[in-house]
Amino acid sequence: MFTDFRPVDDRPVYIQVKEYLKRMITKGILQADQKLPSTRELSTLLHVSRNTVITAYADLEEEGLIYTVKGKGSFVSRSKIVTTSSYRLDWRQKINDKARMAEEMDLMKHGIRWEKGMISFTSIAPDEKLFDLSNFKRAFLDRISIEGEILLNYGYAKGYKPLMEYLLRYMENKGVDLTGKDILITNGFTEGFDMIVSALSRENASVICENPTHHTAMKILRLNGFEPVGIEMEQDGIHLEKLRRALSEQLFCFAYLIPSYHNPTGIVMSPEKRMAVLNLFAKYQVPIIEDGFNEELRYSGSHVAPLIACAGKGNSVIYLGSFSKILFPGIRVGWILADKDLIDYLESIKRARTIHTSTLDQAVLYQYLHNGNFEKYLKKARSVYKRKYELAVRCCKEFIPLKRMTGDGGLHLFIELEENIHAREVLKDCYSKGVVFTPGDIFFTDQGGHHTLRLGFSRVSDEEMVKGIKLIGESVKKCMREV
Ligand SMILES: Cc1ncc(COP(=O)(O)O)c(C=O)c1O
Repeated sequence: MFTDFRPVDDRPVYIQVKEYLKRMITKGILQADQKLPSTRELSTLLHVSRNTVITAYADLEEEGLIYTVKGKGSFVSRSKIVTTSSYRLDWRQKINDKARMAEEMDLMKHGIRWEKGMISFTSIAPDEKLFDLSNFKRAFLDRISIEGEILLNYGYAKGYKPLMEYLLRYMENKGVDLTGKDILITNGFTEGFDMIVSALSRENASVICENPTHHTAMKILRLNGFEPVGIEMEQDGIHLEKLRRALSEQLFCFAYLIPSYHNPTGIVMSPEKRMAVLNLFAKYQVPIIEDGFNEELRYSGSHVAPLIACAGKGNSVIYLGSFSKILFPGIRVGWILADKDLIDYLESIKRARTIHTSTLDQAVLYQYLHNGNFEKYLKKARSVYKRKYELAVRCCKEFIPLKRMTGDGGLHLFIELEENIHAREVLKDCYSKGVVFTPGDIFFTDQGGHHTLRLGFSRVSDEEMVKGIKLIGESVKKCMREV
């Protein structure tokens, strides 16, 4: 006994001794009323100082796990930890359909797996090498010293006030008329979308969206009992005529659109189409959830105002913003800008679900933005991604026999191969050569897109990019020869 104590360097040793003894007591290795070694003995056995053992014993006594008898030493208390022998449940029988569906649609578990060392084009996360950690640390220290302990207490469901104010101005600068609108901070786009979808009435279960569309959004819609109905896309966004036809033939609860640097196609909806789309949805009284996640990652062309800005004083657009691509996805901060009345309900939903998004994260992010770092970071990120984007485009054009390629910005390109080529067959061949990408079919609402693929380039080095795309091209050619 006491021979397997292995302390780590970066944690107080007395706490490790305490936890070690606690584990032995709770597991029953040390039994009730058993005498513990004297502090001197234990310090020798564990190779720690006697003071360390004295402090550990004092803490264990305070927690009621041991007791001292004057002149006799320390003993294990009669522990109240009772374990029944082996009552076990089969949790697969206890979970509901929603949990089952979430598991089935979980791409992290059932999607393509790649091993270390492979060239992966699957991610569209930002490259963490670009993150300016020193300014983030400075923002953390600045905010903590300004606000102190209050940052660690409960905050407001709607969000951290200075950040909300900052984002309202930010959206105003994008041309949004804030009259009658309000903002709510969320844990990224994903939570915001889930909250909105869960709040909207399900008079009928259809939701109109682009086809293909964001896989996570489709998953959330289905988990909430909605069925996404996808409308084909053209080079300048959703196919207007097909949208018009769908709206005239069927009732829709709401629309979900990604007008700028759409995922997965990277397409930007033209300003003219934005106005036409807004007018169409207005005619059929269908609200729009606008996903603006990628808006800032523009490498060429002029700024295109979001739908919510084009809608002026209208209140039918619910805008969802996120810092996941343009800053740091790990802090999980996004926002909903929408009609005040809707935000009022969403505030209550947020409070009921998670109370609020971490105040500390919001406050540090606010300080980071306030210090002017965002503009500097965006400039740097844009120039790095633009270079990568151009390299990816060049490589795809040179090496892949493709039918169509789209992507005007953002962190990915979308490739359409000849109809008779299956991207999953290409993937199988690429996998054996150590290259992976996302097959496009996962983004389609209607089982289509078997001949498409998405290439995320943000986290791939230049050499990997050239080598990986060359290999993809060879696999496509091989598949073409075989069909
Ligand atoms: C279409 C789309 N919207 C939003 C997001 C961002 O989601 P979140 O803010 O939850 O990280 C992503 C991330 O990949 C996305 O592809």
